[in-house]
Amino acid sequence: MTREQRILDQLTPREAARAVTYDENTLFDLLAIDEADRADCARLLARSDDEVQVAPAVAALRRSFGSFNEITVDEPTQEPLVWLKAFFELTPQVVEWSRENDIPDQVVRDTLADVGRHLAISRRVTGEFGLQTWRWLTHHFTVRIFALGRLQFALQRATPTIVVDGVIAAGDWVLAVHIPESGPLTPALVDESLDAAKTFFAEHFPEHPVSVVTCDSWMLDPFLLDRVAPESNVGSFVRRFTPIGHSSDGHTDALYFVFRTRDLTRLDELPRDTSLQRAVLERFELGETWQVAWGYLLL
Ligand SMILES: CC(C)(COP(=O)(O)OP(=O)(O)OC[C@H]1O[C@@H](n2cnc3c(N)ncnc32)[C@H](O)[C@@H]1OP(=O)(O)O)[C@@H](O)C(=O)NCCC(=O)NCCS
Repeated sequence: MTREQRILDQLTPREAARAVTYDENTLFDLLAIDEADRADCARLLARSDDEVQVAPAVAALRRSFGSFNEITVDEPTQEPLVWLKAFFELTPQVVEWSRENDIPDQVVRDTLADVGRHLAISRRVTGEFGLQTWRWLTHHFTVRIFALGRLQFALQRATPTIVVDGVIAAGDWVLAVHIPESGPLTPALVDESLDAAKTFFAEHFPEHPVSVVTCDSWMLDPFLLDRVAPESNVGSFVRRFTPIGHSSDGHTDALYFVFRTRDLTRLDELPRDTSLQRAVLERFELGETWQVAWGYLLL
């Protein structure tokens, strides 16, 4: 049994919330923080001069907590490490809420592991400790996203821009699917995740019934489908979705997700080893803009 499992098992939900901070290693294990980032995280935890900045970020997360984004998260700061400290502080509350809602420990751990993943991505991109994607992680610390196997699902209301006659009405509850960088996207894993989502949300949130999964991604830009093998994992994933007919400029999204850079001035230095890399670069060379396109599938 891992250390964090022991802690989760030993504490009642209220105790977990009251315990305000876990011991450092337990917290870092729960958030799957790499060795390379632990010393910096420990220094951040030990700071006491940042309370004035951290408290409003914690309060913003608490206000939105459990509302599935009906109350959007205010941004009293845009300082990534202030948000990270707030996430550390909110972790016991996430655990407590998850236990009260019978969310399996595995789902809690897989969901929170995105913190370590994104710290590692930031380090890879910038060469130093940081959290470029702090805004993304506010999903996790307001308990509106769950990792179920290979995919993550955020429960949210459909906006008027993605209405589909007879399928999605504005205000319907839908599941927005997200693809973490965690290995191949095989059709079998995708099937498992979608099956898990159907059961999980019906069981845990029957008051928010969902039958539609939406995806908004540069991967759904039709430009890509013509340039990856039809039988590829990416091709098969994209073809599951029916286009909604709504898209917006993705600017550097495709570049960031494939190359982890947003620097448009050095495209000629980037590798062209795979069909995905070549497709992303080709669009920039044509002077076109990658689109973040929307699609849906029925659960
Ligand atoms: C999307 C993702 C899961 C696809 O992985 P996969 O299952 O390995 O994809 P496929 O097997 O279908 O690969 C198709 C082609 O793309 C290439 N490829 C896949 N992911 C790649 C990556 N991150 N960088 C460069 N090339 C990649 C493969 O090598 C293959 O190339 P080939 O046709 O020349 O052989 C993976 O790219 C990933 O984790 N991306 C980061 C997360 C992300 O983009 N999320 C979406 C955010 S909107």
